[in-house]
Order: sequence, then C-alpha cells, then structure tokens
Amino acid sequence: MPAAAQLPFDALNTALKAAGEPTRLRILALLSEAELTVSDFTEILGQSQPRISRHLRLLAEAGLLQRFREGSWAFFRLAEHGAGELGRTVIERLDAGDPVLARDRERLLSVRQARADAAQAYFAAHAVEWDRIRKLHVSDTAVEEAIAEALAGSPPRTLLDLGTGTGRMLELFGPRIQRGLGLDLSLDMLALARARLDRAGLRHCSVRQGDIYNLMLPAESFDTVLIHQVLHFLDDGARAIQEAARVLEPGGRLLVVDFAPHDLEFLREQHAHRRLGFTSDTVAQWMSAAGLDAVLHTSLPPEPGSEGKIAVSLWLGRDKKQTKPVVREVA
Ligand SMILES: C[S@@+](CC[C@H](N)C(=O)[O-])C[C@H]1O[C@@H](n2cnc3c(N)ncnc32)[C@H](O)[C@@H]1O
Repeated sequence: MPAAAQLPFDALNTALKAAGEPTRLRILALLSEAELTVSDFTEILGQSQPRISRHLRLLAEAGLLQRFREGSWAFFRLAEHGAGELGRTVIERLDAGDPVLARDRERLLSVRQARADAAQAYFAAHAVEWDRIRKLHVSDTAVEEAIAEALAGSPPRTLLDLGTGTGRMLELFGPRIQRGLGLDLSLDMLALARARLDRAGLRHCSVRQGDIYNLMLPAESFDTVLIHQVLHFLDDGARAIQEAARVLEPGGRLLVVDFAPHDLEFLREQHAHRRLGFTSDTVAQWMSAAGLDAVLHTSLPPEPGSEGKIAVSLWLGRDKKQTKPVVREVA
C-alpha cells in the first residue's frame, strides 16, 4: 500500500480539530459504511438539522469529507485523498465494538431497511407495469443493441442478472448461453420473470430471491454479470459492484446499465429512485475499487418524441485476474 500523503501543519491541525469531537467522529464512522444525506444523519444521530449541517460543514472544510449535490439532495462521503486518508486511518483505529458506534450502525441499518422497504413496496405495486416504465426514456431496442455491442467479441456463457426484475435480460441472452441466473428481492417481480422464462422455454435459466449486497454465491462463478437499471435504487452502489466483482471468473465482465445524471426530482418521490443518475467517473471508480478495469463507457441520448428526458449509460468492467490457461491435450 502506498504511504499516505503528508499534510501541511495547518491542514493537519484543522483536520485533527475537526475530527476530535464526539458527533463528528461518529459521522466519520457512519460515512465509512455508506454515502449519506443530512436527513439520514438527523435520523441516525437524533440531532437537529442545523447542528448536523454545522458538523458536516466543519468536516468538509477540513477536507475530511466531500459533499456532492444531486437535484435537491446533498450527499456526503469520505474524501479520497489528503485529509480524507487521515480520516480513514482514524476510523480504522476506532473500536468497532464501542456501544455508541454499534448503536449508530444499528440505526443506519434501520434507516436503510426503511428505504429498501419503501422501494420494494414500489416494485410490488408496479411490477406489472415495469416493462412499460423501463422504455420511457430510451427504447429497449436501442439499449439492447448497445448491450449486445458492449459484450460482442466474447459472448457470455454463464450469466448472472442482478436485480433481474421481470427477467428481460435472461430472456434476451437465454437462447445463447449455457446457464443463466437472475436474482431479485421482489417476489412480485420474480413471479413475472418466472412466467417469462417458462413462456420462452428457457429451462437452463432460473430466478430466485437474493440481495445484490449479499449474493450467497461462490466467488468466480459467472463469466458475465449484468446490473441493468438497478443502481439508482440503491444507497450503496459501490458495495453492489464489489459483490458483483467477487463472483466474476478471472477475466469476466460486469456490465452496468443505468441513467446518466439528470434532474428529474419527481423520480425520487414517485418512483423510489435514490440517485439521479451517475457520472461516467462514479461508476468507473466503483469498478476500479472493486478490482475491475473500466473498459467502456457509452451513453444513449433520450429518443426524440419519447416521453423520456434521460440518457441511458453503459459501463463495462473487466476482471483483472489472468484467465486460467487452457490446457490442450497433445496426442
Ligand atoms: C428497475 S427494476 C430493473 C429490473 C431489470 N433489471 C430491468 O432492467 O428490467 C430494479 C429491480 O431491482 C430490484 N432490487 C432493488 N434492490 C435490490 C436488492 N438490494 N437486491 C436485489 N434486487 C434489488 C428491484 O426489486 C427491481 O426488481
């Protein structure tokens, strides 16, 4: 691991002072678990919004965390470099069993659970309409052509579709693969996906309930993993990508399809979105942190005349580990 960068005296002093306060230390510890908003902190820490905002401002001014705006929400995350490295070292030295930190983590878990439950209620209510909602912005044909192009050259043999929804990706690739598996939290979505696979006679493809953050699958078990229009519902895209990368065979590929940045705030209130799209760098950085080479990014603009206003982006990551050498039998 490279040595942490040194900080000028004043910067180090400011960062130490900022971190050296109980609530701010708790905030840093929470940010090592997830990117969070001011209202997440007020719920978890039980303090008023002005107090939380002041703590966050001091931590940001000291370079310990970064603030980024998305529509009307501001998210906070630990800074990557400079004082951010100091923040990470401080968090590593904290006793994770400390009762205050353990309670904060529990509250974070319940805030996340409440959010995931709201999203699942949305999917239960909209499962039947999902195939129509998906094509509001860019047509299925355009997106599916771009997916085929991104994966061309080395056709998938074993495919894992995370957040499979109604199973469209398995239906699309099913006829050309050896084995396909779709995972989703929503039983309503899974029922539609099963019916779809039955209709298409795809017996080598199956779906089951599973959480994108905890796949319960062995490492290196698929050559291709898809995450198609799922990341914007999640509060920890980096962790989802990390878990997807874990199950990729050496040299395997992860294809993420999601929205480019947009400002359609109503999608949060009415369609359970957490994130208003992703910059090309955001997903590429998550991929590289998960040990993948980000080898492609492309965007499809919304189609003229369609109801949609959002571009759809594709990111392809390739596992860096060497593929196993093929042993040829010599007669
Ligand atoms: C917008 S739908 C996309 C479905 C499909 N990939 C498609 O593009 O048609 C998002 C899906 O992600 C699923 N999902 C959300 N959070 C999940 C999680 N933590 N683990 C597994 N699936 C999840 C939802 O249940 C939903 O079916």
